[in-house]
Amino acid sequence: MSPAKTAVTVPFAHKTASFRVSNVLDLGSGKGYLARILADGFGLKVCCVDKNKDRLKSSLRIHKLIQQEQVSQTSLGPSGNLHTVAAPIEEWDEFMDEATAFFRRNTRLDEKELDVAVVGLQLCGDMVYRVIDLVSGCNRAGIRLCAFLVAPCCLHKIVSLRSKAYQTSEVCIENIYKDIQEYLVERGFGNVHLGYLNIGYYYIEATRNALR
Ligand SMILES: C[S@@+](CC[C@H](N)C(=O)[O-])C[C@H]1O[C@@H](n2cnc3c(N)ncnc32)[C@H](O)[C@@H]1O
Repeated sequence: MSPAKTAVTVPFAHKTASFRVSNVLDLGSGKGYLARILADGFGLKVCCVDKNKDRLKSSLRIHKLIQQEQVSQTSLGPSGNLHTVAAPIEEWDEFMDEATAFFRRNTRLDEKELDVAVVGLQLCGDMVYRVIDLVSGCNRAGIRLCAFLVAPCCLHKIVSLRSKAYQTSEVCIENIYKDIQEYLVERGFGNVHLGYLNIGYYYIEATRNALR
């Protein structure tokens, strides 16, 4: 991992772990640096979703090496507490079936709902708004998407603001962060907070349904 990647991934991993949730849905997981820290370092169950299959294969391969598993197999799928799903984030309903089944694997039947944190490190452009829409509209039996953490990137690709409060405001860095926070509040999230991650990146965290 490059020094720049390390500089954002390590504090983001700690921030994710601070939710004290055992399951993490990592959207746009890329080569899986964050996912492996969470799975191999913090022992969390992590489901990676990325549209780029090669990046997922690379994350799974390294995870298997760390777990001293056979690495000859090239197909995606679960390996211990890490799962990889090749899908565009927009195909939410399809991959959420797989993600839910993975989170529920080896859990007690009487555990009605499992808490899941949804995270996205360096989510590009207006993807953060799409993810907020998808998470806020998600009501699935067996899991509860209760924590939300994103560090947006490529903010210059955002061409319009979305919240009622900022819709007509100038699209500039300060307003984008305020807009994302306001948008989360409008979509029913609570405890919305903006914080500094590192090397110029900010994170936005929120909760949905009170964390236990
Ligand atoms: C900037 S990289 C960040 C990767 C990783 N989160 C990290 O910080 O190392 C963005 C990732 O999002 C993925 N991505 C972009 N748009 C996507 C979409 N619509 N659906 C799924 N993955 C997407 C890309 O393939 C890429 O791996």
